[in-house]
Amino acid sequence: MTETTNTTKPTGAGGPAGATQLVVDVSQLTVELGDPDRGHGVRIGPVDLRIGRGECVCVVGTSGAGKSTIGQALLGMLGPGGRVTGGSVRVAGTSLFEADDKTLRSLRGSTVTMIFQDPTSALNPVRRLDKIFADVLKAHGTTGKDEIVARTREALTAAELDPDAAMRRYAHELSGGMRQRVMVALALVNRPAVIVADEPTTALDPTTQKEVIELFGVLKRTNTLVVITHDLRVARRLADRIVVMSLGRIVETGTVEEIMTAPRHPVTQGLVANQKLTKVVKRRDRS
Ligand SMILES: Nc1ncnc2c1ncn2[C@@H]1O[C@H](COP(=O)(O)OP(=O)(O)OP(=O)(O)O)[C@@H](O)[C@H]1O
Ligand SMILES: [Mg+2]
Repeated sequence: MTETTNTTKPTGAGGPAGATQLVVDVSQLTVELGDPDRGHGVRIGPVDLRIGRGECVCVVGTSGAGKSTIGQALLGMLGPGGRVTGGSVRVAGTSLFEADDKTLRSLRGSTVTMIFQDPTSALNPVRRLDKIFADVLKAHGTTGKDEIVARTREALTAAELDPDAAMRRYAHELSGGMRQRVMVALALVNRPAVIVADEPTTALDPTTQKEVIELFGVLKRTNTLVVITHDLRVARRLADRIVVMSLGRIVETGTVEEIMTAPRHPVTQGLVANQKLTKVVKRRDRS
């Protein structure tokens, strides 16, 4: 099935509202994972996705729809067994699949950054946090000591952590929620053009999930965000635009209101019905 653009905005398919400056421009991207011709792999795409400065786009869909693959493609990388077979990805004006390794390395972690599901494995347990932040800043050209401290404090504060306390800690001394905040701060520290978060709340307990979603609500005021989630509640809370994926394709895009009140594609209708059902069950369990 082709994409249903559930919007009346005067823009091209998969595009942001109005004459916004484009930060992400994915055009006719196709990816192969594994070996689909031999029956053990999948084809993703073609996918078109345009994201304007300051937008928060939430990518939702069932498991295996290709959400993480698109997120990885925004960093110019794919998991093992993945390759780009067509189309282009431009981030902040750089065409990722034409860029050399050096350009890509400098772009990842500075122009575009990623927040993963599990903050534990992403943080070196034997390095103090101030050193971890210094490493990330130095890798992208910030070398002055004062500047490093100032930028680290700025990022930790933006992630709603006490910078003085956090900088002296090791990852293992932090709660899961605080670790995810540190990951957010690391994603912010090089002032990226776009932050991609892949299931940033999935590994957290319900209370911490709420806190981290609220934090993303604050981040979206000043950042361009792509939030990948199987949880429509997260998208409802955060999205300026929801993108629904199924079987490797974008099948529908729309505002939260459009998607929640008038979902057109059967997959979107299923996701919305599921979310409403979960709400009813939770309400019943509480009473
Ligand atoms: N190397 C590979 N070889 C074959 N198939 C792969 C490979 N890597 C991923 N896949 C398959 O590609 C599909 C898309 O994967 P992807 O991780 O992008 O989906 P997703 O929407 O993020 O799913 P989830 O919600 O479970 O995280 C999945 O069906 C996955 O099993
Ligand atoms: Mg995924």
